[in-house]
Amino acid sequence: MDSHPQILFVASEMYPFSKTGGLADVMGALPLALSRLGVSVGVITPFYGRLASSEFPLRLIYEDCPVGYPWPDTTADIFLADYHGLPVYFISRGEYFDRRFLYCTHKGDYFDNCERFIFFCRATMEWARRLSSPPEIIHAHDWHAALVPAYLHFLRKVDTFWKKTKSVVTIHNLAFQGRFAYRLFLESGLPSAAWNSSGAEFFGDFNLLKSGISYADLVTTVSPTYAREILTPEFGCGLEGILNHRAADLRGILNGADYAVWDPRQDRYLPSTYSPETPRGKLRCKESLFHELCLDPELLSRPLLGFVGRLREQKGIDMLLDILPELMRKDVSVVVLGEGNLQFEAQVQDMMETYPGRLVARIGYTEDLAHRIQAGVDLFLMPSRYEPCGLTQMYSLRYGSLPVASALGGLLDTITGYPDPESTGFIFTPPDARTFLQSIELALEVWERPAEWKAMRTRAMCKDYSWSSAAQQYIQAYTDIGADLSPA
Ligand code: ADP
Ligand code: GLC
Repeated sequence: MDSHPQILFVASEMYPFSKTGGLADVMGALPLALSRLGVSVGVITPFYGRLASSEFPLRLIYEDCPVGYPWPDTTADIFLADYHGLPVYFISRGEYFDRRFLYCTHKGDYFDNCERFIFFCRATMEWARRLSSPPEIIHAHDWHAALVPAYLHFLRKVDTFWKKTKSVVTIHNLAFQGRFAYRLFLESGLPSAAWNSSGAEFFGDFNLLKSGISYADLVTTVSPTYAREILTPEFGCGLEGILNHRAADLRGILNGADYAVWDPRQDRYLPSTYSPETPRGKLRCKESLFHELCLDPELLSRPLLGFVGRLREQKGIDMLLDILPELMRKDVSVVVLGEGNLQFEAQVQDMMETYPGRLVARIGYTEDLAHRIQAGVDLFLMPSRYEPCGLTQMYSLRYGSLPVASALGGLLDTITGYPDPESTGFIFTPPDARTFLQSIELALEVWERPAEWKAMRTRAMCKDYSWSSAAQQYIQAYTDIGADLSPA
């Protein structure tokens, strides 16, 4: 394990230690893909008190690292895990991170989120300052880590340790910016020079993601299409101005899928494995899922449709709810796995009572069931209103569950829509309930033509979105901003 990584990732979640969505999957895979290309990588992430994995034990390596926030004598403890040979440093301070959820409860965001992530970013800089040599790149992900490039920008001017280090910020979801009152800017430790409209300020508020976008040496996002979309008012979430300002330093690098975790050939959560050459196991997965979810066995020979994702407007769960009555008239069954907005959760559960045995909703977060749904369904539904990249559709392609998805963001970059001769799924635009339903109807028509369906399924399963291509593009990006990544 290399204790002075050339690239230091900073992120608020990382699979298998903590996860609420795709960001965690990226953190669990991209550092490994980079290290396979010969670059040394480390990760810094919060220690949430409970760990989702006991496979990688943690060791306390530093006590009372001074952070100086929010009180002059505040400190963090640092834990270390060896993640397949990569160092993962955990920033620990119970009062901030030892909570049941990562960012919010059903009642809303934790009231002190700004304080928690100022603390995290400052602790990151303090801990990184104690490494034996500075990293070539600090790579911050999403708003929770976005103050790191801002701190670096100003520290570089006064501390020679940081002189050569460059920063990257990656936007995984522009809708979450970390926007707080000006008062918290004053406490953040950023100099007053950062308070302007091309810095940390956003309409009088302190905006953490904007701070990162303003001060990072390079800004990336997770698909080429989303990189173009966020320059427009429709997708820019108010930050299109600063993003256009930084357009020359903005790149879209498509995420990958971690096939060590998401591949039906070797998925440990499946009752039966399968591949394009031996697809029969997929039917066994469907049968077993029917049994597990108590779906009506009469419908086994008909298409099973699945949705796995956060029950939020982004994911278009309301569109699915709108068309469910119509879908139920088509002799299909539907499974929904997700959690999120209380109202959506209640609506899905109500509908389940209306259509027993035909619609099953599991409210909650269940990693293993997500895998079994990917394997057991025929169609995977992803009617997103925006989608920076989306990983679940990449997984569904690999599992031969053809995606029905909106034609935007990373969905457009990963799915080839029917009737293209190379089609791997069904894409529709505009993202509304009516076109979504029409797209499912088209998919059901193709399903009635088994030869065509099987050919499409095989094409989908053979698509390769592994991380190596993204890792190469990140290495190119790091080098372009001046990182020296030659072996130490
Ligand atoms: P996002 O990050 O916007 O939520 P992605 O498609 O990039 O969307 O990644 C979502 C990840 O979270 C996938 O690994 C998916 O399987 C997982 N996931 C989402 N909701 C659930 C859930 N309720 N239970 C288990 N896994 C879930
Ligand atoms: C975000 C996006 C999702 C993306 C993921 C990982 O959560 O909503 O589209 O796949 O980050 O980059």
